Amino acid sequence: MTVNELKASFKEVYGNEAEAVYFSPGRVNLIGEHTDYNGGYVFPCALSFGTCLLLRKNGKQEINFRSINETEIITVPLTDLGTPLAKGTWANYPLGVFAQFLKRGVKITEGYDILIWGNVPLGAGLSSSAALEVVTAYALNDQLGTGYDRTELAKIGQKAEHEFAFVNCGIMDQFASAHGKKDHAIFLNCDTLEFDLVPVKLEGVKVVISNTHSPHKLGDEYNDRVRECQLAVEQLRSVRPELKNLAELTQAEFDEIQSVITDPVALKRARHVVGEVQRTVDAVKELQAGNLEEFGKLMNASHISLRDDYEVTGKYLDTLAEKAWKIEGVIGSRMTGGGFGGCTVSLVKEEAIDTFKEKVGSAYKEKTGLEADFYIAEIGDGAKKCD
Ligand code: GLA
Repeated sequence: MTVNELKASFKEVYGNEAEAVYFSPGRVNLIGEHTDYNGGYVFPCALSFGTCLLLRKNGKQEINFRSINETEIITVPLTDLGTPLAKGTWANYPLGVFAQFLKRGVKITEGYDILIWGNVPLGAGLSSSAALEVVTAYALNDQLGTGYDRTELAKIGQKAEHEFAFVNCGIMDQFASAHGKKDHAIFLNCDTLEFDLVPVKLEGVKVVISNTHSPHKLGDEYNDRVRECQLAVEQLRSVRPELKNLAELTQAEFDEIQSVITDPVALKRARHVVGEVQRTVDAVKELQAGNLEEFGKLMNASHISLRDDYEVTGKYLDTLAEKAWKIEGVIGSRMTGGGFGGCTVSLVKEEAIDTFKEKVGSAYKEKTGLEADFYIAEIGDGAKKCD
């Protein structure tokens, strides 16, 4: 929908003109998966699709949340902004952001009417929830004049996800949504939050996102991975008492001390994280040096590690990636995001895109009975106010 169409919908729903419109994007991660909450590197980029939020002060002591995809308005009195709604309610994402402003001592004294619309496919691992959190944080920051920078807005979104959606996610998704830049990927150190914007110049090559349509639900399994990594850190502390995060270990250091991890599952998880951090650093160097083929090989290796050691891929993502690897003109292909369904990201030569869609699509249908969807990603900007 265009901004004008959204404004018309706002008027229809609330009977008044919207006062402001904000946008924040979804993201696709090129490499560096399940490294963020281990203090490692990630390399995501913001997409051109995302979530819009329209609002107007309503002169009442309540917030009205309405999504274009839902028929119901969810009304929350200002006195209840700190309490989550029933688990699974979509409005918990924006509500969780309001709660974070309160926690930071911000006074919210006026109510708003809010309308949300987004075009990030839901449950596809492209961060529809981070887009919703960050657009809310950006809007509130602007409305309340709190002056938080983009990194703080990302942290607010992440905390909202922890406390109102009960997923102990890392910072990557919200950071990418807040800091994205057109035609750049974000090389982010998730420990220090220092980052570089790296130009993504892919001559004759496109970033193709393939959607399994096997919904990924981040929840218990994701939180299990977070815990398994913490267990590995605890066990490693018997020989490295000062160790904070798995990502602090080089491959050589890890190889030397890994035998102290007695839990076999935690050992596999740790092996993925240490290898993935190194692959991400290497991949960024290769991209900067223009060695796309090498970048692609690292993407494939990332998928294999996520499949075998981290165990977050599954039949749907594996079918897409493994078929893609066999197609001429595919530079690299891997799952992206949390896993357990969702999407793969592939670098594909322009002349091979039609064959890619046809061959990957039919192999996928044959194996799973589902239709995959393909999008050519456009790398867009981070959160903003729209005119
Ligand atoms: C989800 C989380 C992120 C990150 C990825 C895996 O998208 O929200 O913080 O952990 O999974 O890399």
